[in-house]
Amino acid sequence: MCGIIGYVGPRLAVPILLEGLKAQEYRGYDSAGIAVLENDMIRLIRAQGKISALEERIGGEVGTATVGIGHTRWATHGRPSDINSHPHLDCKSEIAMVHNGIIENYQELRDWLIERGHVFASQTDTETLPHLVEHYYNGDLLAAMMQTVARLEGSYATVALCKHDPRRLVAARRDNPLIIGIGEGEYFFASDMAALIQYTRNMLVLQNGDIALIDEEKGVSVYNDGKPVTRETIYIDWDKDAAQKGGYEHFMLKEIHEQPWALGQTLRGRIAADERDIELKELDFSTEYLRSINNIAIVACGTAYHAGLVGKKAMESMLRIPVEVDIASEFQYRDPIIDRHTLAIIISQSGETMDTLLALRECRKRGAKIVAICNVLDSTISREADYVLYTWAGPEIAVASTKAYITQLMVLYMLTFYLARRMGMKSGDELQPLISQLYRLPEKVGQVLDSCETEIEQAAQQLKDWSDVFFIGRGYDYSVALEGALKLKEISYIHAEAYAAGELKHGTIALIEPGIPVIALATQPAMHPRMVSNIVELKARDAHVIGLSFGGCQDVMEVCDQTLVLPDIDPLLSPMLSVVPLQLLAYYAAVARGCEVDQPRNLAKSVTVL
Ligand code: G6P
Repeated sequence: MCGIIGYVGPRLAVPILLEGLKAQEYRGYDSAGIAVLENDMIRLIRAQGKISALEERIGGEVGTATVGIGHTRWATHGRPSDINSHPHLDCKSEIAMVHNGIIENYQELRDWLIERGHVFASQTDTETLPHLVEHYYNGDLLAAMMQTVARLEGSYATVALCKHDPRRLVAARRDNPLIIGIGEGEYFFASDMAALIQYTRNMLVLQNGDIALIDEEKGVSVYNDGKPVTRETIYIDWDKDAAQKGGYEHFMLKEIHEQPWALGQTLRGRIAADERDIELKELDFSTEYLRSINNIAIVACGTAYHAGLVGKKAMESMLRIPVEVDIASEFQYRDPIIDRHTLAIIISQSGETMDTLLALRECRKRGAKIVAICNVLDSTISREADYVLYTWAGPEIAVASTKAYITQLMVLYMLTFYLARRMGMKSGDELQPLISQLYRLPEKVGQVLDSCETEIEQAAQQLKDWSDVFFIGRGYDYSVALEGALKLKEISYIHAEAYAAGELKHGTIALIEPGIPVIALATQPAMHPRMVSNIVELKARDAHVIGLSFGGCQDVMEVCDQTLVLPDIDPLLSPMLSVVPLQLLAYYAAVARGCEVDQPRNLAKSVTVL
């Protein structure tokens, strides 16, 4: 939602804060600010707009400060403006704070503080924090933070800088991520590890309820429930360029091209040498437990939800167990049938999406065992689950998710095959051809990228001026169509809808007019006759149909205006190939329309509020 950065050490703080914010700009980009301690005063610089606006306002005046905090915002309370930008100050401008999350009881706290003479400058919930710390401050910033968070309802990751404590920073977190980076005689705070990888690989992930004190001389102390606690430092072995664009114009394009590599990472060490089994060492299900599973509940948001739709189809067909997929924000409204016989699968790239986290907790309350599929190491969802299957895709920076989706699919297929073998639904002989194709998938995705990028760039030119684009498909293709439509609308702002091809005639076909682009996914040979009929119906109304199919599928090619050809693969696994052209189509359409691909309007990479 928002990105936080903090630094204390021997180096100049301003350039480090700016770099840290740029690396987290995807988390929010409607305003940004920094506060540093200089000449015994807090220097506050904030600007509405992107970080470039803040940089402009700083105008190269890096100053001499070696301690400071910064923030890039995605507005919740108070519209984007200079005044509502973080950091926020107390009345005396002695305490500066940044915050990610929502203080739900802020109005009550604000009234309480106003009654005691505090004067507020912004409309934000965050501004209650420095005023509360000011209220409790008695020469001990840590104690004041402890008293402050005891008053808070809601979610927060927050860092405070105090003029009277010049070589220290104090932070707290509940339900929003906060990482401490430990360098040589220097310390960092960030919302995301990727922001710190250029400075240090040693990171400490704060846990819910933690309050941390960084003292430049004495190091890091963490407290929970008023008592000191030990938090392990983890070593992050990502390539230092992982969070850089690496020569690509946008992170999204880089991440699309990283998919063969990312899939390789996801597969690593998880395929048995004879390719007859999947080895998921993270899971230790007993035979008795597996026998007790009556249903599977998949819960996620956005792109991760779309991955879940594919997972449902694969699991139901192989395991013959009912699988339900829920949008996390809707989950709580339908009293889901979940108990200790349910295996819950929670999918989240960031591992921090609030709706998804609450759904996880609901599943736990009802007795389900929980497997999380996450990309971000040590994230809240991965910590709260019983088991985590990491996707190992490396940092995903672009708001539009690509490599996370494809690796989520890979984990879902692997989990399906793993369970199918252990539940006695499939033998090693039956699984071998599929597992062998999984193993070769990175290469096939590479082939898709090599073969169709130029053609897609041209196709994107054709659809860039249309205000509506439709995606159709049946079975797995329908699930992927949903993801294709989401990608296109979120970054190009073209209205895009995905329809189950058979549903077209029940309404949507009324919207078809001459020339309108329709992307027809046809990777399921068993459904081709019906898909061909649907395409013919569209052609009869002069739609421009771009097909997506395999080389030998003449029937589809003959009826489409243009067909993008995928390498052959078992139809069960086709989503991992068919999504790639759709990602590229969205990307090139957005570029052709001059959109800000990596930072689409109104969106944030990780939504940590409800
Ligand atoms: C946001 C992002 C989406 C993402 C969704 C779920 O809406 O813009 O790209 O799919 O959150 O995020 P998660 O981190 O839980 O997968």
